[in-house]
Parts: sequence; structure tokens; C-alpha cells
Amino acid sequence: MTYQVLFTIFGATGDLASRKLYPSLFRLYKKGELAENFAVIGTARREWTHDYYREVVLQSIAELITSDHEAAIFASHFYYQSHDVGDAAHYETLRRLGETLAKQYQTQGNQMFFLAMAPHFFGTIAEHLKSEKILTGAGFERIVIEKPFGESLETATKLNDSLTRVFSEDQIFRIDHYLGKEMIQSVSAVRFANQMFESLWNNRHIDNVQITFAEALGVEDRGGYYDTAGALKDMIQNHVLQVLSLIAMEEPEVFDEAHIVAQKVKALKAIKTYTLDEARENFVRGQYAASSFNHKEFAGYKEEPLVAADSRTETFAAGKFEIDNARWAGVPFYVRSGKRLTEKGTRINIVFKPGGSSLFEQNLETANILTIYIQPTEGFSLTMNGKKLGQGFEIEPVVLMYRHDSAYLGNSPEAYEKLFLDALKGDGTNFSHWEEAKRAWELIDVIRAAWDEDASPIPQYAVGTMGPRAAHELLARDGHFWRWTPDVWYRERGLL
Ligand code: BG6
Repeated sequence: MTYQVLFTIFGATGDLASRKLYPSLFRLYKKGELAENFAVIGTARREWTHDYYREVVLQSIAELITSDHEAAIFASHFYYQSHDVGDAAHYETLRRLGETLAKQYQTQGNQMFFLAMAPHFFGTIAEHLKSEKILTGAGFERIVIEKPFGESLETATKLNDSLTRVFSEDQIFRIDHYLGKEMIQSVSAVRFANQMFESLWNNRHIDNVQITFAEALGVEDRGGYYDTAGALKDMIQNHVLQVLSLIAMEEPEVFDEAHIVAQKVKALKAIKTYTLDEARENFVRGQYAASSFNHKEFAGYKEEPLVAADSRTETFAAGKFEIDNARWAGVPFYVRSGKRLTEKGTRINIVFKPGGSSLFEQNLETANILTIYIQPTEGFSLTMNGKKLGQGFEIEPVVLMYRHDSAYLGNSPEAYEKLFLDALKGDGTNFSHWEEAKRAWELIDVIRAAWDEDASPIPQYAVGTMGPRAAHELLARDGHFWRWTPDVWYRERGLL
């Protein structure tokens, strides 16, 4: 399928556009999803010429270019228009350019808007697109927006109201880039296409679920944003709860957007809303401190650029969610996410209950575990018990492993490419919907409020560990422990 469409990118001079948007569009172009009938208008405040803009686009796709001729043709579809998002007159210029390009490239009135800029501009842009008649209803008209979607239930609701005055929910594509990752999309396959798991996927057989989103990097140059967000809002509210809802949801009757989203929302609604006291008990935070790890010295979070010297922002959050429904009652869902941990890794551990046989000692140490590896390696493993080789009849764990390196580390452009193609198709399955975002904020607001009330010092953790002691105590209280402990290797060698 080749799409006919006019893209308008707000924030075209930014890092996000260069790192993710342009490479993704080029990949789609190389695959033939985009051909002659597309054009891109890039807008931002700066005064750039079309030629300069095309140079920037070419640079951003440099690694993907196999033919200079092909790349030059691709770049020729890009046009730049300097723009102030608050100035109505500028939308008039934008509209005229859009109309010309729509004719020239025969885009059939189809339009996609990418908002790659700070969320407080989203409402203004949407309203002007309508009032200045850039939206005409002639073809499909969709808006793709980046996170964060608000900073609380209140701000997210305002943001959503301002968007829905112009666009309907099925025209809004809220990116959660984890939903574009291959293995996240595979969670449902692992669950529903394997009778052996599907039949065990409940509180009779599963003891606890552990979701880890670990990063080795610190905040890098994003201190300005991060210091206003923290791990809870930056990762748990969106990516982690999305994954949790995919694991916890009931089987959708049909595997399509409407049915999947309905089940995810149901699962999110079944998560217990904590009181402030419960939130304090069930969630812990931490901040990385200056420390040495693996022969290297690292600055603490508070020493990072653009971070307040007395910052109380958490760079680590861990907690326990409980789901009040027949399938999950009594099964804790432990989650954790942090920066400057031992290594980059996103994985889910489904820990099964110890078996009932009296022949062997059965306890949580010998539990079967299904692990789903999201990144940087993708795949899954199953920890089972086998007989130890040799004399006697002792059992030992055996790990059946299917794992491969994902092609890209970090914010994989491939994930974006998949998401853009979905948006072009009008398929919102792998995007975050308002009902999901709303429920996630309800859950997160309580935890945030509990933490804000608590003036005690933020627990510190050393770089290279898997978070503060409290994160381990949280599970120990329930007789559990984190199954993924990459820090142990470094401790044993005195590197931590
Ligand atoms: C983003 C967060 O949403 O996800 C970042 O804002 C985080 O703080 C990033 O580093 C992680 O994404 P990935 O794809 O690199 O795991």
C-alpha cells in the first residue's frame, strides 16, 4: 500500500524529529509505503530555507542511505515553514503552502500532524488548525503526539479537552513508544497462543509478576525536563502500566483496537486505588548518588546539568500494584524503573507458584518462571526444574531460552516506524488511549501525593545497583525477592 498524505511536523528543528521522525519516514519510503504522493512541511520558530531543512533531513538519515539519488528524491518532498504556534497569521501561510503541496503531490486531502514539541502547545496548535481551516475534512486527518500526556489527572484532562474540541479520539494517536516494540506486541502472542500459559494465567498458578524497566544511563542532557517529572511520571505512568495492562487483561473477543483497548482499560480499572497510607507503604523511591561502579566514577543525580542541587525528584521508583478481580486477587504485580542501574534491560518475570508434589522440596526458590525479554535482547525463557546430572536425585533449575539481540538499542527507530505506519493505517491499537491515560493518572496521582507529603530524605542508591534497599524490602515483606539481579555479578567481583 502506498499512502497519499501531507505531513505537518511541529517542532521540525528538534532532536526528536531528527532522531526518530525523519529516519522512520525514510524507512517507510524505502519500503514503498510512501512514494510519490507525500509531502512534509516542517515547522518551528527558526528561519530555515527548504534547502537547509533538506540537508538536516539528509543528515538525520545518513546511516540509512544506500543510494544518494534515492535519498535526494526523498528529501525533495520536504518543505520548511517558519512558524510561531501562537500566531494565527502563520497558520494562514501554512494553509496556503499545504494547499499547494496537496495539489502538487496529490495527497487527496489526507493529513497527518506530528506534534514533536512541549505538550503545553498541543491545545493551541489543535485549535488553530481548526480555526484557520487547515482541517477541511477532505481526507483523513490525524494528530500524533508525544508523551508526556499531562503531568497529573488534572493537567491531562485539560490537555485532552483541548484536543477533543478539535479531534475525535480515533483521530488522536498518543505515542507510547514501548507499544511499538516487537516484544511488547508479542506479550499477547505468548499468552494467548500457548495453551500451557493461557490455562495457568491466573491467581491459582501465578505467585507474583515482576516488571523491570532498568536503564544504565543517567538523565544525560534531559535534566530540565526530568527534574519536573521523575521516574514515576516518566516511566511508570505510561510504559510500565501499559505493559502491566497487557499482561493482566482478559482475552479480547476479537484482536482489534476496540476490543484490546476495552480489555486494557478494564484491567487498569481493576487495579486497586490506594489510599495515601497504602501508597506510601507500597511504593518506594530513590535517587542515584555520586558513586563508583565498575572502575568508573559517576556524578550523583543532583550534580547533573539542569537539575536542582536540592532536587527531591526520584530517579528510581518501585512498587506493588494489586488487582481486584477474580483472575488476579492476591497476586502482587511488582514494578520498578530507574536510571543508573546495573544495566539496560526491560523484562517481565511471571513467577509461578511452587508445585504441590511432596517428592521434592518446593518453594519459591524453585518456582517456574516465564521471563519475557523486551530489550535489549528480545525473546523469552522458561525456568524449569530438572534432575542434577550424576548420582543422587537432586533437582536444579534449567533455563530454556529463546533470545536474540534486538537490532537497535535504546529508543528504537523501528518502534517509531511501526507506530507511524499504524497511524497511517488508522490503527490505534498500539497507542495510548484517553481512558488508559486517565486511569493511569488516577493511580499515579495518589502515589505522587503520598510522596509529596513525606518530607523525609529521598533514599539514595549507588550507581550500578538495582535501586535503594527499600526496593528489596518491599518484596521481602511479602516473602518475595526480585528475580532479576544483574548487580550480584558486580558485587561478587568487588566492582560495586
Ligand atoms: C522515555 C523516557 O519515554 O523512555 C526516558 O522519557 C527513557 O527517560 C526512555 O530513557 C527509555 O526508552 P527506551 O526505548 O530507550 O527504553
